[in-house]
Amino acid sequence: MNDRTPPARPGLTARPQWRALQAHAERCAQLHLREFFAADPARGERLAAEAAGLYLDYSKQRVDDDTLRLLRELADAAGLRERIEAMFRGERINTTEHRAVLHTALRAPAGVVVDVDGVDVVPEVHGVLARMAAFAERVRGGEWKGHDGRPVRAVVNIGIGGSDLGPVMAYEALRHYSRRELTFRFVSNVDGVDFVEATRDLDPRETLFIVCSKTFTTLETLANAHAARRWSLAAFGGDEAAVARHFVAVSTNAQEVAKFGIDTANMFGFWDWVGGRYSMDSAIGLSTMLAIGADAFGDLLAGFRAMDEHFRHAPFERNLPALMGLIGVWNTNFLGLDSVAVLPYEQYLKRFPAYLQQLTMESNGKSVTRDGVRVDYATGPVYWGEPGTNGQHSFYQLIHQGTRGIACDFIGFCDALAPLGDQHDLLIANLFAQSEALAFGKTADEVRAEGTPAALVPHRVFEGNRPSSTILADRLTPHALGALVALYEHTVFVQGAIWDIDSFDQWGVELGKALAKTTAAELAGKEEPELAHDSSTNALIRRYRARRSA
Ligand code: F6P
Repeated sequence: MNDRTPPARPGLTARPQWRALQAHAERCAQLHLREFFAADPARGERLAAEAAGLYLDYSKQRVDDDTLRLLRELADAAGLRERIEAMFRGERINTTEHRAVLHTALRAPAGVVVDVDGVDVVPEVHGVLARMAAFAERVRGGEWKGHDGRPVRAVVNIGIGGSDLGPVMAYEALRHYSRRELTFRFVSNVDGVDFVEATRDLDPRETLFIVCSKTFTTLETLANAHAARRWSLAAFGGDEAAVARHFVAVSTNAQEVAKFGIDTANMFGFWDWVGGRYSMDSAIGLSTMLAIGADAFGDLLAGFRAMDEHFRHAPFERNLPALMGLIGVWNTNFLGLDSVAVLPYEQYLKRFPAYLQQLTMESNGKSVTRDGVRVDYATGPVYWGEPGTNGQHSFYQLIHQGTRGIACDFIGFCDALAPLGDQHDLLIANLFAQSEALAFGKTADEVRAEGTPAALVPHRVFEGNRPSSTILADRLTPHALGALVALYEHTVFVQGAIWDIDSFDQWGVELGKALAKTTAAELAGKEEPELAHDSSTNALIRRYRARRSA
């Protein structure tokens, strides 16, 4: 297919359903959330849905019943239902890499058949889970010994992107359930600081490294894995036999794992139909299982599965990922909001926004359709965030009174995992207060009525009309975390389906990687290299080479 090949389907913006949404947006997008609530006082209870233990309140989004109906019509026209089925069935929906997209098979129960090229992958998934569980039990029970017979006291996960963000997020999120006698560290950055600081207080004789890399060719991970091997072997007088007791690998690439020197008997596999950013519930979650145990890992998978089932079967009217995905399309394409702040009011979810950044932006940061045609509409928004209440004392000012439109996802739990006086009530009171303030604001009349001097009134007005959703669950458990992650995975899927993009490739990361290789060679040599970059890059390289002390 070349650049001039016409799209096989009518372009998204040419669809009647898209045009209908545009017309609807002209009529109602200027309505204030105060007016939405005045017209429909019960919308706070009505515009909510529940699944897999998660309650989603989307009543503070700038949508009414017509908006939701038109969005569902757009989803039908885009073939969302068929696309969902195609994913679950294992069709090669990652068309640019010609791969199936089957993270849902990672949590399929035994007995379900998911066929890839004539092979049922579910028994393989369960086989790896069983090996992980046996290994986790040995490490947690002190039976797995280091090279000089000591039990493992520290686990260091080395990986980057999907081989790091899921594991570290899940470890932090589920710390409450973790084996406290074990120390967990996560090393990702090629910046040596990451490895040095993560290991400075660890004893190599009691440290187990999990080298996680789908491809096992990633520069950062291999650099850190080699550093880890040097650090580890130094404690054993360079005895290579120690590697087998202190290193395990998680990868799809047995050949590269063996080349690195890790015995493939100590390798936990997964498959090319698991994308890196969709892999935290595969063997990439080995550190999670070591931390919380195999049973709790099973609960995590059950949470994912509950949301999968809901996504696959519930009608779009009450389907949480469909609702979140479609409302995201409305916000992005019809209200012109180009960022989403993810605001967990739960300190254990402190790495959740970072995790979501890869999931959402590596998936939907695309500008051509599956057919390779340049899109004429906005695609994936910028995701960012911090836990509440910290963010309130930092960037919320801009969300409340700045000139940019930002949609917010608030996340909270009814029960505290670390109760401390009335602090959990205070925490959740802040969550509810923020979403209320963002939606309804405070008018000039209200500000004046408080006796505010006239000159200050414009400064103290809150326009409101800032849309948000609130996800509320009873308690942050492994099950709840699985459901929450699957909710966002499928939200991303819904949006990718509407935007007609391939949400499962990531070609945009390649150019920088290739240039870095050339540049690394130019920085390494003693001789002044011949530089053929632009004048800015050439000047930066020369200055760096001239001024570094080594
Ligand atoms: O560079 C992006 C990326 O390919 C991500 O998609 C992936 O999660 C990450 O690098 C790490 O890749 P790997 O697991 O193969 O080391």
